[in-house]
Amino acid sequence: MVVDGVDNEIKKSALELIGNTPIIALDRIHPGPGRILAKCEFMNPGASIKCRSSMHMIERARESGQLKPGAPVLEVTSGNQGCGLAVVCAVLGHPLTLTMSKGNSVQRAIHMEALGATCIRVPQVEGTYGNVTLNDVKAAEAEGLRIVEETGAYYVNQFNNEANAQSHYETTGPEIWRQTGHHVDAFVATVGTAGTFTGTSKYLKEKNPNLACYVVEPSGSEPIKGEPITKPLHLLQGSGYGCVPNLFKFDYMDGTLSVTDEESVKYKKFLGEKEGLYVGYTSGANVAAAVKLLESGLVPRDAWVVTLLNDSGLKYTPVPEELT
Ligand SMILES: Cc1ncc(COP(=O)(O)O)c(C=O)c1O
Repeated sequence: MVVDGVDNEIKKSALELIGNTPIIALDRIHPGPGRILAKCEFMNPGASIKCRSSMHMIERARESGQLKPGAPVLEVTSGNQGCGLAVVCAVLGHPLTLTMSKGNSVQRAIHMEALGATCIRVPQVEGTYGNVTLNDVKAAEAEGLRIVEETGAYYVNQFNNEANAQSHYETTGPEIWRQTGHHVDAFVATVGTAGTFTGTSKYLKEKNPNLACYVVEPSGSEPIKGEPITKPLHLLQGSGYGCVPNLFKFDYMDGTLSVTDEESVKYKKFLGEKEGLYVGYTSGANVAAAVKLLESGLVPRDAWVVTLLNDSGLKYTPVPEELT
């Protein structure tokens, strides 16, 4: 049945729900001077920013012929890339297997499996539940590579896939530029693979070379700042792995900001209680860092600082300290 004028309103699939997220002013957390604006990435269909790179990496692999229609896909994930890929693979018809450290929240595995993927949870070699280290990720990677070898599945390889950063260069950066009416003085973001930071800062700096871009690192795990790792365990699942990722480009960075677990938890709570936004720890870290930047004197006091609410709070098991 054809109904006049309605077709434009109807999304053709979940893929059309990816990106074009709203940007929100966090005026209750930071009444000014200056403004913190945040992209609502938790509103993507996989409930995180990683839907953007998931769609881009799979589309590029299909276009290049590396991924044939219906062929199996494998990825190593902290959960959010896996949820994003599960959305994309469900719609496009690719069987998907994910390996993930057992230290990442079980909610993520439940989410991926609800979207038809298989999630293999790999025992931790170092960290604790909710605190995932580089060696834990390496253990999940070793299991993933073994499965690729065995099955011939297409390996997405988010840490080394240029289409990851390109997705943010083509979507996140332009959206921020348009949604702020070109009024953006600074951008701050946590770094996992660095796809988000590299792609977004590259675009924004091409538009305005004076725009300041700051990396957010968990205190004690600050390799981009150039410091030795003294605290590999932290709450920022999906970021702060204690190494400079291959996709990271120092050219697009003006400096780093360090955030403690306590600060991330505090701002995660503020986002819920003052702004009505239930988000995860890296979102709390991003907002804590944006406040620090505005208070630091590194940017004008009335600067507009843009950051990202990377994922939904529903993806986490609360750590016991928070319950007290
Ligand atoms: C919650 C969360 N925040 C931030 C990031 C970092 O994103 P990127 O890998 O683009 O650096 C991730 C990545 O998985 C994540 O899961």
